[in-house]
Amino acid sequence: GDMPFQEKHRPQVHFSPAKNWMNDPNGLVYHNGEYHLFYQHYPEKPFWGPMHWGHAVSRDLVHWEHLPIALYPDSLGYIFSGSAVVDLRNTSGFGSEYNPPLIAFFTYHDPVAAEEGRRNETQSQAIAYSTDNGRSWTKYVHNPVIKNPGIPDFRDPKVIWHEETQKWVMSIAAGQVIQFYTSPNCIDWTYSGEFGEGKGSHEGVWECPDLFLLKVRNTDETKWVLIVNVNPGAPAGGSGTQYFVGEFDGRCFETDQEVTLWMDYGKDNYAGVTWNNASDDRRILIGWMNNWQYANEVPTEGWRGAATFPRELGLEKEGNRYLLTSDPVQEIEKLYGKKVNLKKMMISGTQSISDKIPFAKAPMEITLTFNLANKTKMGFPNKYGITLKNSKGEYYTVGYDNIDRCFYADRTRATGENFSSSFPSLHFAPYIVREPEITWRMIIDVSSVELFAADGKAVITDLVFPSDIFDEIELFAENGRIEMIGGTVNELNS
Ligand code: FRU
Repeated sequence: GDMPFQEKHRPQVHFSPAKNWMNDPNGLVYHNGEYHLFYQHYPEKPFWGPMHWGHAVSRDLVHWEHLPIALYPDSLGYIFSGSAVVDLRNTSGFGSEYNPPLIAFFTYHDPVAAEEGRRNETQSQAIAYSTDNGRSWTKYVHNPVIKNPGIPDFRDPKVIWHEETQKWVMSIAAGQVIQFYTSPNCIDWTYSGEFGEGKGSHEGVWECPDLFLLKVRNTDETKWVLIVNVNPGAPAGGSGTQYFVGEFDGRCFETDQEVTLWMDYGKDNYAGVTWNNASDDRRILIGWMNNWQYANEVPTEGWRGAATFPRELGLEKEGNRYLLTSDPVQEIEKLYGKKVNLKKMMISGTQSISDKIPFAKAPMEITLTFNLANKTKMGFPNKYGITLKNSKGEYYTVGYDNIDRCFYADRTRATGENFSSSFPSLHFAPYIVREPEITWRMIIDVSSVELFAADGKAVITDLVFPSDIFDEIELFAENGRIEMIGGTVNELNS
C-alpha cells in the first residue's frame, strides 16, 4: 500500500491525506478498475480553508494511492462537495463512446459573496470532465450549470443515472429540503421536485444527500434510499447521517417513514456517500470520520481528518420499517495478518484477553459472538462489552445495556489531550436484541474504533486519541455473567 505514515495518531488502515486538511469524501466513482476517492481538501494548512478536491485511487478499497489535486478553486469560488459519474453513452459530448468521460459535479462556494452577506448568491452547481481516467480535469466553460435559486445553503450535488426514465438525476441539499433536478446530458438541468418538509431531523443544516436503490435482504423487493447528512442534530451530538427509505419515480422521492432513522450512532461518521458505477449488487459508502464539533481541533500534527472504513450497505425489513445496514467491505480480508481464535468463555466482572493475543493493538479487527439465549434467566448481566485501554488510565468502552436496551460507547476518557469539551462523550445506539446470539465486529485503528453489530444494524464509529496506543483488551459483564461463544482477532496490515 501507499500509506507509510507513522506520525502519532495516524490511521494505518483508513484513508487520510498525506498532508493538511480533509473533510467530506467527494466524486466517488468506479471506472476502469479504479475506485476514485476525491475529498474536500485544503492543501496549505491542517485546517478547513479554501476548498480543493484532493484525489486518491484504489483497486481494492483498502489500499490507496495518493494522486495530485484534481480541482482548484478559481474566480467562481471554492470547490465544495459533490459527486462524479461515468458518462457511458457520452450524453455530454465531453468524450466519445469509445472513451466515455468522467464528469464531476461540485458546488462553487463564492467567498466574496459570502463575505458581503449575499448569502442567496453564494452557492451554485458546476461541472468538470476528464477523459484520462480522472488524472486531469477541465472545468466546463459555461459554469455554473445550476445557478443559485435564492437559497443560502444550496450544495453537494449527487448525480446518478436513472434507468427507467433514461435521465440523469441530481439531488441537492437546499436549505431544509433535498431538491431534485433531471438532465439528458449532465449540462442542462430541470427542477423536478423536493423532499423533506416535516420529515426527519431539522435541527441543523441539510448537507450531502445520496440517492440509490437497494435490494431488501432475503427478498426480491427493492427500495430507494435517500441519505441526508445533518449538522448539527445527530443523536450523539453534532454531525450525523439520517436516512429515508421509500420510492423515487425519476422526479421526486417519497416515503411513509414516520420516524427519524440514523445510519451510525457514533460521533464520527459524517458526509458519507456511495460509489457510482460500482458493480450493481454492491452499494459502498465511505464517510468522513469526524464531527464538525471538533474537526478543526483534533490533536494531529501536519494532517487532519480521515475517512471511515468503506462499508457495504444493505436493507433489512423489520416489522413495517426498513433498516439500513452497514458492514465493512469484504476486501478487509486483504489486510489480514496473524490471527487468533478466541475460545468460548464465561465473562463475569472484568477479564483481560490481551495475553491471548500477541498483537493486541491497532490496527486489528475483533469479532465476538455472545450467547443471548439465556437472557431471561437470573444472572444475565446489566451490561456487557469490551474495553480498550492503555497504562495511562485512558480507555474506550463499547457495551450493550440490557436495561436500557441499547449499545453504548463510553468515550469520556479516550484521550489525554483536552482539545474540545464535545469530544468526551457517552452515546447510545438503540437496538432491541431478539436473536439467540449476536456478533460484534470491530475495526480498531490507531485513532478510531468502528463497531458493526447485529448484521450491520447497530453501528458506532468513534475517533479516539489515546496518549499511548491502547494495548490492553478487557471483556466485562456487570452484575451478572454472559457467555462469549467464540471470536477472532485479526491483525490488520496496512
Ligand atoms: C459537509 C460540508 C458540505 C460542504 C463541505 C465544505 O461537511 O459542509 O456541505 O460542501 O462540507 O467543505
